Amino acid sequence: MLSYKHGYHAGNQADVLKHICLIQAYKSLKRYHNSISYIDTHAGSGNYSFKSDYMAKNKEYENGISKLESYKYENQSIKFYLKVLRNINNSKKMTFYPGSPSIMSYLSDSSDKLIFYELHNNEVELLKKHLAKKINSKVYNKDGFEFFLEKINQKEKTLVLIDPSYEIKDDFEKVVKTLKILNEEYENVTAMIWYPVLNIENNDLFIENIRKLGSNQITRIELPLKKYNEEVGMKGSGIILFNGSSFLINNMKDCVKELYQIYKDENCNIKPKVQRI
Ligand SMILES: C[S@@+](CC[C@H](N)C(=O)[O-])C[C@H]1O[C@@H](n2cnc3c(N)ncnc32)[C@H](O)[C@@H]1O
Repeated sequence: MLSYKHGYHAGNQADVLKHICLIQAYKSLKRYHNSISYIDTHAGSGNYSFKSDYMAKNKEYENGISKLESYKYENQSIKFYLKVLRNINNSKKMTFYPGSPSIMSYLSDSSDKLIFYELHNNEVELLKKHLAKKINSKVYNKDGFEFFLEKINQKEKTLVLIDPSYEIKDDFEKVVKTLKILNEEYENVTAMIWYPVLNIENNDLFIENIRKLGSNQITRIELPLKKYNEEVGMKGSGIILFNGSSFLINNMKDCVKELYQIYKDENCNIKPKVQRI
């Protein structure tokens, strides 16, 4: 039984990093491919109203999107992300935070094919309603980890977002196994896998397990938020990028530096990372 609801966390710093990277990943692929397939293995419900009970409970967005809304500097990835969010909201002032399905639905054109997996019964119903009029989208109420590989057509360029809730501890192991398969069999896929940094030992182990796969196509993008050794809470978040172009990696380098300046805890002495592993 799944209890995680993304509404409690929508628009937080982790969403900001993930969605900027997702937008840039899509844009970098569309430079060279007229159409792509997109698979979102853990889609959520689509949109999250700032006034909902979930969002109002922890108000995680106040340390995330709210701190970025008045961004006045020059990073193009951040500026474009804000423009996308405002356009989806149809207003300069946002009333809801758009999740990955909304963002991709907005960005994509009719030649792209979008596939969404969501296991939670209520969330999937909301998502189906939300995407009902989108003819390039299909929503499945199935386990995304288990079924997404069967939707990959090796002849098409495919972007995959794997964004588990890590409610189940073995999600970390599943991520490593999935990367192994992608690395061995799916060279036409670009994948982004989101992960939370919960503590430094486990995070090092997770990264080491990925390093051991021996791929030269994997980049770690990580944004520390608090001192890693504090006992509670998420200390940061990251994205394991598989088969990202140098255009995308360079954009993310600049962007992560900028986000770090905006979000860093004053006690934080750890630098953000965008590095091949
Ligand atoms: C972090 S949220 C997704 C957020 C979304 N990708 C976004 O960026 O807006 C994770 C979602 O995955 C769903 N979920 C958990 N395990 C799943 C699985 N094995 N297959 C598909 N969905 C799953 C949860 O119900 C939750 O809605």
